[in-house]
Order: sequence, then structure tokens, then C-alpha cells
Amino acid sequence: MTTSIDLQELSESQKRLLLAKILKQKLQTQENKIIPEACYRFDRFPEYQEIKKIREQLEANSTINPYFTIHEGINNNKTLVRGRELINYSSYNYLGLSGEAKVSQAAKDAIDRYGTSVSGSRIASGERPINLELERTIADWLGVEDSITFVNGHATNVTTIGHLFGPEDLILNDEFIHNSAIQGAILSGARRLSFPHNNWQALARILDKQQRHNYRRVLILIEGVYSQDGDFPNLPKFIELKKRHKALLMIDEAHSMGTMGNHGRGIGEHFGINPADVDLWMGTLSKGLGSCGGYIAGCKALIEFLKYTVPGFIFSNGISPALSAAALASLQILQAEPDRVNRLHRQAKRFLKSVKSHGLNTGVSQNTPIVPVIIGSSLASARLSGALFERGINVQPMIYPAVAEDAARLRFFLSCKHTDEEIDYTVKVLAEELAKIESEKQTVVPNKAVVPQKDAKLQNESNWVRNFAVEYVAQER
Ligand SMILES: Cc1ncc(COP(=O)(O)O)c(C=O)c1O
Repeated sequence: MTTSIDLQELSESQKRLLLAKILKQKLQTQENKIIPEACYRFDRFPEYQEIKKIREQLEANSTINPYFTIHEGINNNKTLVRGRELINYSSYNYLGLSGEAKVSQAAKDAIDRYGTSVSGSRIASGERPINLELERTIADWLGVEDSITFVNGHATNVTTIGHLFGPEDLILNDEFIHNSAIQGAILSGARRLSFPHNNWQALARILDKQQRHNYRRVLILIEGVYSQDGDFPNLPKFIELKKRHKALLMIDEAHSMGTMGNHGRGIGEHFGINPADVDLWMGTLSKGLGSCGGYIAGCKALIEFLKYTVPGFIFSNGISPALSAAALASLQILQAEPDRVNRLHRQAKRFLKSVKSHGLNTGVSQNTPIVPVIIGSSLASARLSGALFERGINVQPMIYPAVAEDAARLRFFLSCKHTDEEIDYTVKVLAEELAKIESEKQTVVPNKAVVPQKDAKLQNESNWVRNFAVEYVAQER
């Protein structure tokens, strides 16, 4: 039962007492409200619980668990896993430079001279000549005025895009752009729109519709080679558009630096464009250049501005001299041994041609060192990867929802070190094992409505593959 109080009948001290009572009651109710553990204990976070479940399922399925494989040596055209030497297609070591004696020696020498860390932000704690030499070499290699290096490629995109653009700006990205660029765009607060993959005509329509004068800056974000399909953009068309709309063009060359163009100078060399027509050349040191780190290259004003202001540089330790030395040695080898790039192109072509000659679907791969073999089922892709592993070949599946279920695939990364014999053996085994899986599918699943015992197990496997893929895609994109 509630009694109503006429406040006007209360004396001043009674009003104060009543107020104190109400406040006390309110505080008590707040204290008694239970905050669930899922809000303050990591092990109770639902997201963590989900990952834990997936990890346990993966561990239980160790025969076809393709993730976090332990490699016991250099990740090259060959790799050592559980004491077995495998032919390896799961490495970005396109030019075989990680593990190359001269590159390793350069890193060791830099450690002997400078230690393992620069032990501070370069702007405040000072420079090491090797870092400056690397930045000069990258800029010269690309034919632009200057460059700046960061401790990793992902952070390079996040901090640079996040810093240069703001809420008054528009960022237009290819739908398959890497996660790091998207994170940077989100950080910037700019309006973000995706355009269909490699579709410069669709981008042109968006640019017309958006009306340039509604924004301060407009950024077009593309990659030099896309790591999902092994295809690349029609760069001259994008340059035309950026010029017409007074936009800025940024290219992520993570997979095209060292792999595209006759000398490995990237997508710019491939198309023979004027390097100054691209505003931001972004790349990683971690793939073709056999090291770790990222760079932005472009005009002097851009690099000077970034060196004095970009948070991921000025509030971060400088790149380790050993990593700079490794990347620098790699660039020097690339210049001295252009045949590495020619050989990479030859081997990538050989692989693609041979896979196609077996009637397998390689999607839109365009003679880059990334060749997808589209299987069209996550489960079949994971099983095929496992079957190849048993026959001495290491290749990762790429499954739903990283790609659509009917586009699930194995993704082959070629290296200039792959021999003809390795490639021919791989394609032969790939065709054999895929045929086995396909014939099993036909005999074991006579009717989709009745799932035989064996397939029921496979369906469970399919669930964990799908579950895991949710996390996989979150990391990749
Ligand atoms: C297109 C692209 N950009 C950026 C990155 C990040 O580079 P890093 O691995 O050097 O941090 C990657 C990594 O795979 C990538 O594929």
C-alpha cells in the first residue's frame, strides 16, 4: 500500500529527511543491481566463449584443422611441419627473400650494430641511418619523392587513413579491400562507401552521384593485387577517375610490391604509369620483401606531414633496425637479380595454366602469384587441404563466410623458388584428390534428404568449419 504525502504540509526539516531517505533508497537499489560477470570477466565474455568452443572443436578435429600449423623452419617453397618436409603454398615469401643468406646476414649485422630495438619513437629519440636508407631506397624504387616506414603493415593503413581523413570526407573502397584499410576508414570518421570489386565503372557512377563539392577530401582505396582472387585493378582507369574528380588515390601494394612489373616495382611498373599519379603508395615489408613492417610513399609534403604528425609513427617505437636491414637487403637483391621476378611470373603462369588444363576453376586469377582453386564447398575445401597435406603439400583452404559457400577454395601462393617438378606434382595430386572427393560425394550422398552416417559426421565438421570461418573472416577483412 502506498500513502501519498502532501509536500506542502511538511516542515523544512521533514522535507530534508524525506529527501535523504529517497536518496538512500535509490543508492541501495543501484548497489543491489547485479552486473553480470560477462560484463567484467574476459573468460565470461560471450565472444570468448564462442572462440573457446571453436578452438575445442578444432582440437578435436586435428586431422583437418588447418589453422595455427607449427612450421619448424623457414616458410618458403618448402616447409617443415611435424618433422615432414612439405611443398608449401601458404607463404607470402614470394621471392624467397626471407631465409636468403644475404638478407639474414644484413639483419644480424644490424643487430650487432644497433641492438634489437631503436628503443624509442624516432621523432623524439633519434634516427638510425639504416631506417633512413631504407626509406630513401623505397622511394627511389617506386619513383616518388619520399617514404616513411612503420612497424607493421596493418598499422600503416589504420594510422595513415585514420589520420589524413575526417568526418567531412568521403572514402570509396573496393569491396575486397583489406581489413586494415577499413579500420583506418572507420577511425577517420569519414563517410565510407564500397564499390563492386575492380569495377571502376561503378566507382565512376558513385563519384558522379556523390557530387565532389559535398566533401572536403575524397579518397579512393584499392589494392595492387587482391589476395583473395589473385586479380588486379585497371589502374589507369582509376587514375583517370581520381583526376577527373580531384580525389586522392591510395594503393595497397601488400601483394603487388615485388611481384608485379618486370622488375617487381609493383602495379605502377606493370601499367607503366607515372608514379606521381598515385597519391599514397602503401606497402608491406612482410611479404615480397621478406621482413616485417609497412610503408607509405609519395610526395615530400605528404611524408613530411606524416613524419611529424601521424600517431602510429610519432607515438610508436621506430621499426627495428634488423627489419629495416632485411628489407633493404631484399630490395638490393631484387635490383641485382631481376630474374627472381621473371621466375616468379613464369612459375605462377605454369601453375595457373596447368590447373586450368585439368578443368579446375581458378576464378579471375590473372597470372599473379595468387591462384585460387575454387571448389564450391567449405567442407570439401577443408578436406582437400587435409588430403594434400597427407601427400606432402601444404595449402590453406579459404571457406565460408570469408568467401561465399559456392566460392570456397584452396588458395595457392606461388614463390619464385617453386620448381617445375613441385608444381607439376602438386597439380597432379590436386586433380587426383579432388576427383576422389567428388566421386565420394556422388556415391555417398545419393539423396540430400537422407544423410548417410558418414556424411552426418561430415556435416558436423562442416559446422565447425563454418563457425571457425566467422572468426577467420573477422581477422582477414
Ligand atoms: C592487402 C594487405 N594489406 C595490409 C596487410 C597487413 O600487412 P602486415 O601483415 O605487414 O601487417 C595485409 C596482410 O596480409 C594485406 O594482405
